[in-house]
Amino acid sequence: MSQKFKAVVIDNQNEKFSREIKEIDTSHLKDGNVLVKVDYSSLNYKDALILNNGGKIVRKFPFVPGIDFSGTVVESEDSKFKKDDKVILTGFRVGEAYYGGFAQYAKVDSNFLIKIPKDLDTHKSMMLGTAGFTALLCSFAVKAKEELLLGEKVKDVLVTGATGGVGSIAVMILSKMGYDVHAVTGKKDKNDYLKNLGAKNIIDRKEFEGESKLLEKGIWDGVVDTVGGAALTKIFAQTKPGGIVAACGNAGGIKINTNVMPFIIRGVKLWGIDSSGSSIKRREFVWGEATKLIDFSKVKSFTKELSFSELLETYPKLLKGEFFGRAIVNPNK
Ligand SMILES: NC(=O)c1ccc[n+]([C@@H]2O[C@H](COP(=O)([O-])OP(=O)(O)OC[C@H]3O[C@@H](n4cnc5c(N)ncnc54)[C@H](OP(=O)(O)O)[C@@H]3O)[C@@H](O)[C@H]2O)c1
Repeated sequence: MSQKFKAVVIDNQNEKFSREIKEIDTSHLKDGNVLVKVDYSSLNYKDALILNNGGKIVRKFPFVPGIDFSGTVVESEDSKFKKDDKVILTGFRVGEAYYGGFAQYAKVDSNFLIKIPKDLDTHKSMMLGTAGFTALLCSFAVKAKEELLLGEKVKDVLVTGATGGVGSIAVMILSKMGYDVHAVTGKKDKNDYLKNLGAKNIIDRKEFEGESKLLEKGIWDGVVDTVGGAALTKIFAQTKPGGIVAACGNAGGIKINTNVMPFIIRGVKLWGIDSSGSSIKRREFVWGEATKLIDFSKVKSFTKELSFSELLETYPKLLKGEFFGRAIVNPNK
C-alpha cells in the first residue's frame, strides 16, 4: 500500500537542527513488518529531548520521532497480527532508532507490539503511554517487597517528580494499591492536584537536595524515583530495611554519590526500571492490570490533547519544567 501521510520530521543538516510537519509516503517506512494507522501517540520527557536537538539519542536524519503510539493494524506480514487489530507500542528504540509515533502511520517489528487488552482502548492507552506504563512497572516493583520477596506489608511509599507524567500516575496507582503515598514536588501550587490523585502527604523537593549521611532514619518501604541525582542518594539512606527503590528517571541528574551501607546493613534493593526493553510477557501482564489500578477520568482531567503543531509548541515547556500532567498527541487533530 502506498499512502501519503502527515508526520513530524526532525532533521540535522549542516549542524542546523529543524523540526517540521511534513507529508511523506508509506513507501518511506522501511523498518518492520506491521503497518499501523496511528490513533494516538504521547509526549514523554525523552520525546522532548529528541525534539529539542536529537538528545544524543537519534543519530540518523531525517527522522520521525515519537517513542510510543496506539493504533489499528492496516497490513501485517506476521500472522500474530491481522488487519483491524488494536495495538500498543512503547519503547524498543522506536522513535529513537526506528521511525516513531508522531505520524499518521508507523511500521514496526511485530515483536514490538502487543494487542490492547479488551478493557482498554487506543485513547486510554496513550493517556498512559510510556509514562503510565513505567509508573505501572515501578509500582509493581514496590509491591514485590510483600509479594515476590514475602517481606512485611508495604506502608509508606515515596514518589519523586510527583507532578510529572510518571510521578502523577505512580501516585494514583500506589494509593489504589492501598499504600500511604508521600509525594515529592517542586511545585508549591500542586498540593490539591496531588491529594486528589491519592497522595497522603506532600514533601518539598528541597528536602531531597544537598548532602546525605551514610544512613538516615529509615522511613520508606518503597520508593518510585523519577529524579535520580542527589535525591536518589538521600533516598537510599532513608529507605527502611528490605525496602525497594524503583529508579526510573534522571530529571534531576544522573550522578549518585552513595555508599554500600543501605544495601549491606539494611538490605535495601535498587530495582532499575527500563520500560523500553520490557518483555512482551511483562507488557501484556502490566497493561492488563491498568484498568484495575487507574482512574481514567482523573487521568483525563490532567491530560491535554495536542495536534502536531501544538506538540512543537509544548515540548520546550516540558523541558523547562513548566508543563505538568500528560500530553496525548492526536495525529488527525
Ligand atoms: N526508565 C524508563 O523506562 C523511563 C520511562 C519513562 C520515563 N523515564 C524517565 O523518568 C523521568 C520522568 O519522566 P516523565 O515523563 O514523568 O517527565 P516529566 O513529566 O517531565 O516529569 C518530571 C518531573 O520531575 C520533576 N523535576 C523536573 N526537574 C527536576 C529537577 N531538576 N530536580 C528534581 N525534580 C525535577 C518535576 O516534578 P515536580 O515539579 O513535581 O518535582 C517534573 O514534573 C525522566 O527522567 C524520564 O526520562 C524513564
